[in-house]
Amino acid sequence: MSTEATTEKTKRGAFSSRKVFIFAAIGSAVGLGNIWRFPYIAYENGGGAFLIPYLVALFCAGLPFLYLDYALGHRLRGSAPLSYARLSRPAEALGWWQVGICFMIAVYYAAVVAWALRYTFFSFTEAWGDDPATFFMSDFLQAGDVTLDLKVVAGVLIPMLVVWLAVIVVMVAGVEKGIGLTSVVGIPVLIVAFLALVIRSLFLPGAAEGLNAFFTPNWEALTHIGVWAAAFGQIFFSLSIGFGIMITYSSYVDRKTDMTGSGTVVGLANSSFELLAGIGVFAALGFMAQAQGVAVGDVVENGVGLAFISFPAIISEATGGALIGVLFFASLVLAGLTSLVSVLEVVVSAVRDKFDLQRKVAAAAVSIPCAIISLVFFSTASGLYVLDILDHFINQFGILLVAMVSMIVVAWSLRALPQLADHMNRRGSIKLLLWWRLLVGGLIPIALAYMVFDSFHAVVQTPYGGYPTWMLALFGWGAAALVMVLGYVLAPMPWKPGTSLDVPADEGAESEGADR
Ligand code: ALA
Repeated sequence: MSTEATTEKTKRGAFSSRKVFIFAAIGSAVGLGNIWRFPYIAYENGGGAFLIPYLVALFCAGLPFLYLDYALGHRLRGSAPLSYARLSRPAEALGWWQVGICFMIAVYYAAVVAWALRYTFFSFTEAWGDDPATFFMSDFLQAGDVTLDLKVVAGVLIPMLVVWLAVIVVMVAGVEKGIGLTSVVGIPVLIVAFLALVIRSLFLPGAAEGLNAFFTPNWEALTHIGVWAAAFGQIFFSLSIGFGIMITYSSYVDRKTDMTGSGTVVGLANSSFELLAGIGVFAALGFMAQAQGVAVGDVVENGVGLAFISFPAIISEATGGALIGVLFFASLVLAGLTSLVSVLEVVVSAVRDKFDLQRKVAAAAVSIPCAIISLVFFSTASGLYVLDILDHFINQFGILLVAMVSMIVVAWSLRALPQLADHMNRRGSIKLLLWWRLLVGGLIPIALAYMVFDSFHAVVQTPYGGYPTWMLALFGWGAAALVMVLGYVLAPMPWKPGTSLDVPADEGAESEGADR
């Protein structure tokens, strides 16, 4: 190993092996998006038939974009802003835009993980009684009128403090001992817990009806462009691509690693978990529909409702419900935590690269303000509303927009795809040939442009969620614009002394060592 690589390892941090990296990347990908978002999206968009656009999106957009993120981080050896700056100084702003998006996601993601933590304990006593909806909204969140109400809710504040404390410990511990270790231990536990949940759900009476509802294809749905857009949107969020996470993680990976092979393992593992979640959730919903004597379609709820209203109802009805509850909510906590640390690492890594800060100092300087903002807005009575708005706008006009712009810049303006493909092909078991350049430089940006335009059109026609205009302007448009502007404020600031903005020497080009 060259002196340059050794210095980089000690200075920036690194994953000790390919295995640890793969676990961390799966930890990032498998999150709230897999467990509560996928089952609902699949059901709404054609059920069984959705698997076709979903698989097309995985193979034609998800995996190719994942390889692009990996190529950027692995070749350019930096956080998102540093990697882009090394490609071209003006492109640095794109990296800071991604950093801003991650900061925003972290503040609300932590709240949902905290709710799940609290519900893990509620499961033991079925604290929600016989009306989980009223319990969730009125007793637990104490949500009142749709407005900004900063009254602190102790029942939410305490689990949020616990979650943030855990996250800060992981972030301070660093890349290998913090993120790597959490993922290597957490992911196998998550898989076992979730498998147990799915198996239990499959034995509930009515499970077959749920699975029929989930898998019965509605072929007509495939003629709607919106269904394809939903599949692309799901794949981007779920694979954690396009918003800096995979650039950051791959910059910590040994230069001799087969990155395309690793990416394929991560992508397939993520989608397998997603399908498993769909099966488990719909088997449980089938049971609930049967118990209430209604059709499965009548009990299907979106994200928050599915986890915190439908599942508690299922737990109350089923024999051994407490076990189902603990397995479900603990899985959400674990999956959420390993994703949350990856989101925050994008910010910590960028701050460390740009300013002259020790790991511990940078981790604290990022995590503590993030925790405070998170607590101020989400441990209060209006937390749910702010979360819903922020989540929608940051996804649609943050993640998807920055993914589209960065792809156009990298492919068309900087014409960097050939050198990135060369780098990946040197050790990659899957070769990035013309097909990859056509997808990354053509099909995927076009698909993303359509999706962003469609979302824009929809929210201009009908204000999102019926929220007051000032709330949408502040927490929706305002937040999405703020993260974009951030790039232009931070990019001109000088890099810490000794930072080279040249493209690092490509070790692999000179010596062909064994893959790790
Ligand atoms: N990929 C993460 C999720 O699915 C962000 O929740």
